[in-house]
Amino acid sequence: MSITIRRITPEEPELLGQITALEAACFTDPWSLQNFMDAAANACTEVLAAMDGERIAGYLVCFCAAGEAEIANIAADPQRRREGIGTLLLQTALDAHPEADFFLEVRVRNVPARKLYEKFGFQDLGIRPDYYENPRENAVIMKREANVSG
Ligand SMILES: CC(C)(COP(=O)(O)OP(=O)(O)OC[C@H]1O[C@@H](n2cnc3c(N)ncnc32)[C@H](O)[C@@H]1OP(=O)(O)O)[C@@H](O)C(=O)NCCC(=O)NCCS
Repeated sequence: MSITIRRITPEEPELLGQITALEAACFTDPWSLQNFMDAAANACTEVLAAMDGERIAGYLVCFCAAGEAEIANIAADPQRRREGIGTLLLQTALDAHPEADFFLEVRVRNVPARKLYEKFGFQDLGIRPDYYENPRENAVIMKREANVSG
């Protein structure tokens, strides 16, 4: 695998379009192109892409402000799961903010994602009942304290 991780800017609409297409393939409640454009334009937000040449094989969106960071979105191309792409993306986001506590929400039944987060030291913090639609499902809130190794 020759994947490189880099930050996507609002001046890269074609790449943001690829991310939007992957998002639609991965989630039942997908973000729109405008959502990704807004995220890329926000100084507190990073849109990271796993690039395989000119193709995007995965992406991650992270907000960070006032010592707290949130993983808003992460996905790997369905054809390229279990190749370490999610790991590379998450490691890059964590390394960019070593001083921050990280938070995220994840569907309770999303075992692959919960396992990935646990591998990086995230721990369950609580439940948000009926947080998701399509299908309705509880969210687990997970937290990773700054400087936890993983
Ligand atoms: C979650 C996701 C991003 C993981 O991406 P990935 O590139 O396949 O993950 P990696 O190859 O880096 O795997 C890292 C670890 O995650 C866990 N993992 C990944 N897929 C798994 C699966 N199907 N079952 C169990 N654990 C899994 C494992 O601990 C794995 O480590 P290992 O391979 O050494 O056992 C990917 O499954 C995905 O895109 N899912 C759909 C979108 C999604 O649900 N995002 C999370 C929203 S909160």
